[in-house]
Amino acid sequence: MRHLMSPMDFSVEELDKLLSLANDIEHHPEKYAHACDGKKLATCFYEPSTRTRLSFEAAMLNLGGSILGFSSADSSSAAKGESVSDTIRVISCYADICAMRHPKEGAPLVASQKSTIPVINAGDGGHQHPTQTLTDLLTIHSLKGHLGDLTIGLCGDLKFGRTVHSLIHALIRYPNIRFVLISPEELRVPSYIREEVLTQHNIPYQEVERLEDAMADLDILYMTRVQKERFFNEEDYVRMKDFYILDKAKMALAKEDMLVLHPLPRVNEISVEVDDDPRAAYFKQAQYGVYVRMALILTLLEVEVC
Ligand code: NCD
Repeated sequence: MRHLMSPMDFSVEELDKLLSLANDIEHHPEKYAHACDGKKLATCFYEPSTRTRLSFEAAMLNLGGSILGFSSADSSSAAKGESVSDTIRVISCYADICAMRHPKEGAPLVASQKSTIPVINAGDGGHQHPTQTLTDLLTIHSLKGHLGDLTIGLCGDLKFGRTVHSLIHALIRYPNIRFVLISPEELRVPSYIREEVLTQHNIPYQEVERLEDAMADLDILYMTRVQKERFFNEEDYVRMKDFYILDKAKMALAKEDMLVLHPLPRVNEISVEVDDDPRAAYFKQAQYGVYVRMALILTLLEVEVC
């Protein structure tokens, strides 16, 4: 039995297979409509979510399966003091696979150690968000045609943004990847990622504070929101929240085929005037999230569709 805690849990070959399965699902959804008949997905979400939870649920429903779960800690027995280990033991009796989001780093990993069904990390605190990364990889591969030879700008809250952490881990395995890390000093990528991931693997990267200084070089601009819920005080959040606003004027500095991605939700960091720009791919990205989660459920449940 396999779990998914980090994008590194899959080899590059396994990722290639997963992305081509997602691609086939996109083009031939009818082939997969009954692949999970009789199977159940539990979504155990101890933190707010729109896309991740609902795209997981849509994915299982598209495969013919059923869904159950909770969407906040308050509506589960966590509010009574139950541990994730006990909760997952019980969920294992009710479902075939579980997607779990938790505000504490490592909680889904703890759950996976007690689980008798596959557990998927749907976001653990400021740590990792592997299924968002699968979504991002599918989006880049589908729209750019390749995952190597790219200069990727990661902009915003690089300190607390778990999507950024997972994406960096995943992309360094492809050839000729370069990062431009665009953040204010206080929201820089954690030093363990700079030292143990980027430097140790000889990945070229540059850190800049002004988005304008990076725009012209980028093939992908990955925008993120300032992670309000992970700040220790409101004042710091208010000071940081509008540090970056991508608008038409900044888009004019970018390459004609640059893609703008964002895991969403967006707050103010992308002006709505950018939405009509053909390079804005963030809503398309949310759609790819369903195909890739369908592929992931099939892979972890070891369901083969001929
Ligand atoms: C992200 C998350 O939860 O980390 N959202 C998502 O799953 N698409 C990004 C965010 O909340 O900013």
